[in-house]
Amino acid sequence: MKIYKANDFKDMSRKAANIISAQVILKENSVLGLATGSSPIGVYSQLIEWYKKGDIDFSRVTTINLDEYRGLAPVNEQSYRFFMNTRFFSHININMANTYVPNGMESDAECECARYERLISAMGGIDMQLLGLGHNGHIGFNEPGAAFEAYTHCVDLTQSTIESNKRFFAASGEVPRRAYTMGIKTIMQARRIVVIVSGEKKAQIVKEAFFGSITPRIPASVLQLHNNVTLVGDEAALSLL
Ligand code: F6R
Repeated sequence: MKIYKANDFKDMSRKAANIISAQVILKENSVLGLATGSSPIGVYSQLIEWYKKGDIDFSRVTTINLDEYRGLAPVNEQSYRFFMNTRFFSHININMANTYVPNGMESDAECECARYERLISAMGGIDMQLLGLGHNGHIGFNEPGAAFEAYTHCVDLTQSTIESNKRFFAASGEVPRRAYTMGIKTIMQARRIVVIVSGEKKAQIVKEAFFGSITPRIPASVLQLHNNVTLVGDEAALSLL
């Protein structure tokens, strides 16, 4: 595993964006696995800035996202599709038809998960997967206890996630109870993985996930078994290493 230490969130974002942009420059039809959440926001902003300067061309890139809430339409501001469109895709020259997020409106979970896996295979697999890291070690929506062998599947959100999401919705009945997520096996099949972490609140889990024992209790610990992982973190997140 390679570890890059950044000064702060902005520097972490720039370093990770550099890695992604090198990937796209070296292979213009790259398949990028992407994430939502607070960690990648600065990475996307940096890539947009470089695109606007003429330094990166996304016209031949394909993207595939890790996860999506089940039951949320793309126009719902809380959906991950909405996040990706507004924070990244609508600002670059990517062909929208080549951007994929699980279809939260598909109620047949088996059908949607199988479709997603077929899609990834048809693309020839993921060249580079960007990951954030949950405080409990989750990656995608693969929470502690998730099987290392799982492919894309539908998960029941934990009560604490549902509770903490309530604030984003007008009525509690609108809060999604389930989500589609790439499984750990799907993630592990990416040829290269870039994990971004920022802030002291991540320091403990970074240490446990990358230097502790490999266990389903800490889903990200499986990344120790991948042969091409790059961890980009700011000083605070890497402070316990
Ligand atoms: C996002 C995702 C999540 C986040 C994780 C960290 O698509 O799958 O696993 O990467 O929850 O979130 P932040 O970056 O907000 O700390």
